[in-house]
Amino acid sequence: MDTFDSQLAEFAENMLETMYAAPGIGLAATQVNVHKRVIVVDVSDTKSEAYTLINPVLEPFGAKIQGEEGCLSVPEIYEPVERFEQVNVTAQDVNGEPIEFTASGMLAICIQHECDHLEGRLFVDYLSSLKRNRISKKLRERSKTLV
Ligand code: CO
Repeated sequence: MDTFDSQLAEFAENMLETMYAAPGIGLAATQVNVHKRVIVVDVSDTKSEAYTLINPVLEPFGAKIQGEEGCLSVPEIYEPVERFEQVNVTAQDVNGEPIEFTASGMLAICIQHECDHLEGRLFVDYLSSLKRNRISKKLRERSKTLV
């Protein structure tokens, strides 16, 4: 991503709206079928700590912690996943200005989850094949009843 124009700003704004409406705490552009390196996250209860990260690069460090994760792309499935507790984040904001910060806990987990989406990776990819098969079966059965 190297064009920081009003179109990008509007896209990021729409992503935040979609995330809040879901409701979710993070969304990657890949999930709305736009192949740009953009993620939005807000892990606050008050919807007041939004991060819009363009071209994020992560340097995870510290201990590994296990958290229960879910995903808007894998609805209603929640499974424990191991992630680094902390992560150094470098990115750009919608104006192309550099951003650098260290995230920990829930925010760190969420940012790692969203950046995985940019690489086409889902949290279920970290689970055992037994669990993964069970989940795809469940999703298939669900779509059968929906269609
Ligand atoms: Co997700």
